[in-house]
Amino acid sequence: MKIFPDDRIFEVVAKVADREQVEAYVIGGYVRDHIMGRENPDRDIDIVVIGDGPAMARAVAREIGRDIRVTVFRTFGTAMFRYRDYDVEFVGARKESYSEDSRKPSVIPGTLEDDQNRRDFTINALAISLNKENPGEVLDPFGGIEDIRNGIIRTPLDPDATFSDDPLRMMRAVRFATGLGFRIEEGTLASIARNAKRISIVSSERITVELNKIMAAATPSTGFLLLEQTGLLPLILPEISKLSGVEDKDGKGHKDNFHHTLKVLDNAAEKSDDLWLRWAALLHDVAKPLTKKFVPGTGWTFHGHEFLGAKMVPEIFKRLKLPLNDRMKYVRKLVGLHLRPIALVQDEVTDSAIRRLLFEAGDDIDDLMLLCEADITSGNMMKVRKHRENFALVRRKLREIEEKDAVRTFQPPVHGDEIIEAFGIPPGPMVGVIKSAIKEAILDGVIPNDHQAARDFMIKKGRELGLEPR
Ligand code: CTP
Repeated sequence: MKIFPDDRIFEVVAKVADREQVEAYVIGGYVRDHIMGRENPDRDIDIVVIGDGPAMARAVAREIGRDIRVTVFRTFGTAMFRYRDYDVEFVGARKESYSEDSRKPSVIPGTLEDDQNRRDFTINALAISLNKENPGEVLDPFGGIEDIRNGIIRTPLDPDATFSDDPLRMMRAVRFATGLGFRIEEGTLASIARNAKRISIVSSERITVELNKIMAAATPSTGFLLLEQTGLLPLILPEISKLSGVEDKDGKGHKDNFHHTLKVLDNAAEKSDDLWLRWAALLHDVAKPLTKKFVPGTGWTFHGHEFLGAKMVPEIFKRLKLPLNDRMKYVRKLVGLHLRPIALVQDEVTDSAIRRLLFEAGDDIDDLMLLCEADITSGNMMKVRKHRENFALVRRKLREIEEKDAVRTFQPPVHGDEIIEAFGIPPGPMVGVIKSAIKEAILDGVIPNDHQAARDFMIKKGRELGLEPR
C-alpha cells in the first residue's frame, strides 16, 4: 500500500530528510486514523527518524521558517513543535527495555523495525515512509492494515511482554476497542486478564485519561464490560465492579445493578456528549451494594443509596484525580437528586414539590431530568411508556412553575440587612431564622417570589418571634 499524507508538514519533513540523508517515517495514531479515513482526535503527528529526533525537529522547524518554537524533552530524547493545529513530535527510532517496577524504559537507538516492535498494537505500529526511495510506502510488518480492516486490537509481539513493559496499554486496548468499535483478539484479551494486577504501577492520572476516553465513546458500556471481564475494573473502580450480581431470597431477586448502570450510561451517552453527565450516570447507583437490605414481605431495598452515593462522589473523584471543582459538585448533586423526579411522578405532583426540586437542582434541572429518563431501563414496554408519560407531565409542570415563580436561580427577595434594619436588631441567628422562613414560605407556595410579599411575610414572622418593626 502507498499513501503520502497530503499535509504540507510531510513534504517539508521529506525534503529535510532527503537533504540530511536521514530516514523519516510517520508512525502511530496519525497513520492509523489516516488509513481509517478519520481525523486524529488529539491532532498529533508522530515522526520517527533513524537517528537524532531533536536534531531533525530543529532542522524541520528552520525549514518551515516563521517563529516555530521547538520544545526538547531531553530525558525522553524527543522534541516537538506546534504547526497549524497539530502537535508534531520527533523521536529517534529506539529499542527499549523496561524494568519490573516502572513504566520508564531504558532506551538505546534502533532500527525502524525495533521501533515498530516496541509499539502497543499492530494498528498503531504502521509507518509511512517519507523517504525519496519509497515515498508514501506503508510499512506494516504485523498485519496492522488487515487488523484495521477486521476491527481487531492485537499486540505486535507476545502480549505478556507488551503489557508487562507498559501496563497502561491494557487500558489503551480497552479504550481503542470501545472508541473504534473493535474487538480485542483472544490472546491479547487473555493476557490483559493475566497482567491486570500490574496496573498498580500506573499513575491514577493516566488511568483516568483512558477512563474518560472510554466514557466519551458512543457506547461506553463496551469498555466497562471489558474492564470487568479482564479484572481491571475491581482494581481501578471497585465500587462499580461491586454493583455486579443478583441475590435471591424467598423467591425475590433484584436486578443486576452493574448491567443496569451500564444501560443508564449508554442511554445518557445517546442523549448527551457531556462527560460529567455520563459520570453521574455511571455513579448514580454506586451506593446500592452498601445500602442493600432484604425486608421480609417487601423484598430488596436500597434506602438512602442516593444520599450515600452523593457522599461517595468526592472520595472517588479524589482517588481518580478527577477535578474536585464544580464538575465534582455537579456529579454529586445529580447522584443525590436522581430519585427525586421519579418520586414526584409517583406521588401527586404538587407545585410545592416541583418548586423545591427546581430550587435544589437549579440550572442542572434539565440534566437531572435527562439522567432520570436514562434511568428507565425496564424491559416492560408498558411500564416504560407509563414512566415516559409521567416524566412529560413533570417536565410540563417544571416549565409552568419556573415561568410563574422563577425559583431555579433563587435569590432571597429580602436580604439580611433589610431584616436588621426593619426590626432594629443586631446581626445574629435571628436574621437567619427569618430569612429561612421566607425561603420556605416561597418554596411552599405560601407567598409569591416577590419583594413586597416577602417583606410583609418578614414583618409577620418577626412579630411571631416577639420582634416589633421600627
Ligand atoms: N504508544 C505505545 N504505548 C503507549 C503509548 C503510545 O506504544 N503506552 C505508541 C503507539 O504507537 C501510539 C503512539 O505511541 O500510536 C502515539 O501515542 P498516543 O499519541 O498516546 O496515541 P495515539 O495512537 O496517537 O492515539 P490517540 O491520538 O487516539 O490517543
